[in-house]
Amino acid sequence: MLKIVVLASGSGTNLQAMIDSIEKGEIWNTEIAMVISNNEKAYALDRARNCGIPAVCISPKDYPSREEFYKKLLFTIEEVSPELIVLAGFLVFIPEIMIKKYKNRIINIHPSLIPSFCGTGFYGLKVHEEALKRGVKVTGATVHFVDEGTDTGPIIMQKAVEVRQDDTANILQRRVMEEAEWKILPKVIDLYAKGKIKVKDKRAWIE
Ligand code: GRF
Repeated sequence: MLKIVVLASGSGTNLQAMIDSIEKGEIWNTEIAMVISNNEKAYALDRARNCGIPAVCISPKDYPSREEFYKKLLFTIEEVSPELIVLAGFLVFIPEIMIKKYKNRIINIHPSLIPSFCGTGFYGLKVHEEALKRGVKVTGATVHFVDEGTDTGPIIMQKAVEVRQDDTANILQRRVMEEAEWKILPKVIDLYAKGKIKVKDKRAWIE
C-alpha cells in the first residue's frame, strides 16, 4: 500500500479531492498516513481530522530557528516513513536536505501550465491575476516532482483550462481547481501507486 504524507497550508480542497478519490477507489491501494500544516488554522487539518487522518500543525513560529523547525518537520515525516510526500498548497520552502532524502518522491500541484506563471512569488491568486493580465487564452495546472528550484522539477502531468473574457482571478482560480487540479493530482497519485511514473534527469513520463 502506498503510504503518503500530505503537506498543506490552506483550505485543503486538493487534499479533499485525494480523500474522495481514495474512498471512491479511483486511487489504487493508497493511504494518507498524515496531514501536516504550518498553519494551525488551515482548514486542511479539519478535513483530515473529519476523516480520521492524523493531522498535526508544525509552525515555524513555535521554533527558535528555521533549522529547528525543519528538524521537527523532517523528524515527524520520517516517523511516518512515507513513500510519497504530496505538497497540496504548502507555502513553506522545502529544505534541500529533505529534497535530497526524498528525491523524486515529493510532488507538488501548481495552478498554471509550467513554465508559465510559476517560480518565486507565484502562488495563490497572484498566478491567476498574472495570467489574466497577460491575456492568455489557456491556463491550467501542473503536477511535478519537487527539486531544489521553485516549480522547476520534472513535469508529470498537465491539464489545460480555458480562460474566458469576463473571468476574475477568483473565478479563474475556481475553474482551474475544478477542471484541472482536483483531477490531475489524484490521477498522478494513482499512477504513482501503480508504479507507472518514471523519471530520468529533468523528464518524467507515464509508462
Ligand atoms: C491550489 O491552487 C494549488 O494549486 C496551490 O495552492 C492551492 C491550494 O488550494 N499550490 P487548496 O488548499 O488545496 O484548496
